[in-house]
Amino acid sequence: MAKPKSYYFCNECGYQSSSWLGRCPECGKFGTFQEEVVQATKTSAGSKTAGSAVSKPKLIRDVSASETQRVSTQCGEFDRVLGGGIVPGSLLLLGGEPGIGKSTLLLQTALSISDRKVLYVSGEESEQQIKMRADRLENGGGRRQNGELYVVSETVTQRIFEHVDSVQPDLLIVDSIQTICTENIDSSAGSISQIRECTAEFQRFAKENGVPVLLVGHITKDGNLAGPKVMEHIVDCVLQFEGDRNYGYRLLRSLKNRFGSTAEIGIFEMQGDGLREVTNPSEFLLSQRDENLSGCAIAATLEGARPMFIEVQSLVSSAVYGTPQRNANGFDFRRLSMLLAVLEKRCGFKLGAKDVFLNIAGGLRVSDPGIDLAVACSILSSNVDIPISPRYSFAAEMGLSGEVRPVGRVEHRIAEADRLGFEKIFVSKYNTRSLDKKRFGIEIVEVSVIEDAFRSLFA
Ligand code: TYD
Ligand code: MG
Repeated sequence: MAKPKSYYFCNECGYQSSSWLGRCPECGKFGTFQEEVVQATKTSAGSKTAGSAVSKPKLIRDVSASETQRVSTQCGEFDRVLGGGIVPGSLLLLGGEPGIGKSTLLLQTALSISDRKVLYVSGEESEQQIKMRADRLENGGGRRQNGELYVVSETVTQRIFEHVDSVQPDLLIVDSIQTICTENIDSSAGSISQIRECTAEFQRFAKENGVPVLLVGHITKDGNLAGPKVMEHIVDCVLQFEGDRNYGYRLLRSLKNRFGSTAEIGIFEMQGDGLREVTNPSEFLLSQRDENLSGCAIAATLEGARPMFIEVQSLVSSAVYGTPQRNANGFDFRRLSMLLAVLEKRCGFKLGAKDVFLNIAGGLRVSDPGIDLAVACSILSSNVDIPISPRYSFAAEMGLSGEVRPVGRVEHRIAEADRLGFEKIFVSKYNTRSLDKKRFGIEIVEVSVIEDAFRSLFA
């Protein structure tokens, strides 16, 4: 038997070294090295070339695309993020903080895929616990019990593949990769070399058998997928399930997708009996208010290809302490500082001496820069204490000199604002050149600098 050897692995990127290093030469992070004892491997992932079958290069036009029939998850939002369903033979990774609902999402999906055999392997829960959860999901949503959903509690990959051989599933779900280990390596479950080796084994299995594999991965406290980045390189698709735990909303994003766009997001709501799809987020996210309150503005944002109308709320008040406080929920803090600086310079408000609090309703995190104008206008509204009508919406980015800049797919946003019954939408002047404004019933207000918007709203 080969002597056990210890290696050092970088927590961040999985870089392997035979001695401890202070700084990782691969990713440049400090203090990320951890020792792991690795038994000589019988078959290591690295040494085996994937697919021993001899294949010849083909002309691309001769390759038939029919082999890649996607498997629908029977969940519109999930399919949307995947780009239309699960591609056979692909390896997917679903990451998310503990308790966000990864197991719920996958079990629910497994239950609703009714025309295929699914094997759900859990290293975290017993079969009874899975059954309890399944019953809970069943009771509420009226989801059809999948006649061919097999569950097993197992943590060793070799056993899992034995179960796969006997069940012959069309989809394999493994919850979670951090609890799974392989007999080929001697280090403990959840260590970097284990995660790397297990992921490689699942990938080999998926590619050789054409069975898609869905892995659950935990997330570290700084938001990275626990375990090395190396896992993200191996898998075909990295999905992230996120949301504020104090709110019911959950967003499913794809961070990497070899078979679809990463711009799409899926929106769910966590309820007592499982996750419900939210197909029309805008109506959801706009708080129903009748009175006009200052400091609120509605942004017409786009998440992927989908328009989402989100309420932005600001509170500007005189600073009580010497140093003004700033806080932003769901919005980039540095971007808020930048917008405040622009407003101070261009509109002449002494915001530097005020506390500014910003909140995006619903606990969402918005990355679309098209939210800028709504943020700026809500701050101005709170500052002058004049409300903006809840029937106005905003879609533009802000530049450093106070110019209001165009955003992508503006006609999409305008059409949605029109559909939702808004009276006006504020967009950049440079966005409307090729736009047929008569198509829309909504009034399109064109602004080129932030002063225009200010005059139009508050003068
Ligand atoms: P879970 O799927 O176990 O999270 P993860 O696998 O990501 O760690 O979800 C756990 C949370 O979801 C738990 O705090 C309770 C909540 N939940 C509901 O609100 N409704 C439900 O029907 C279920 C199953 C869970
Ligand atoms: Mg779980």
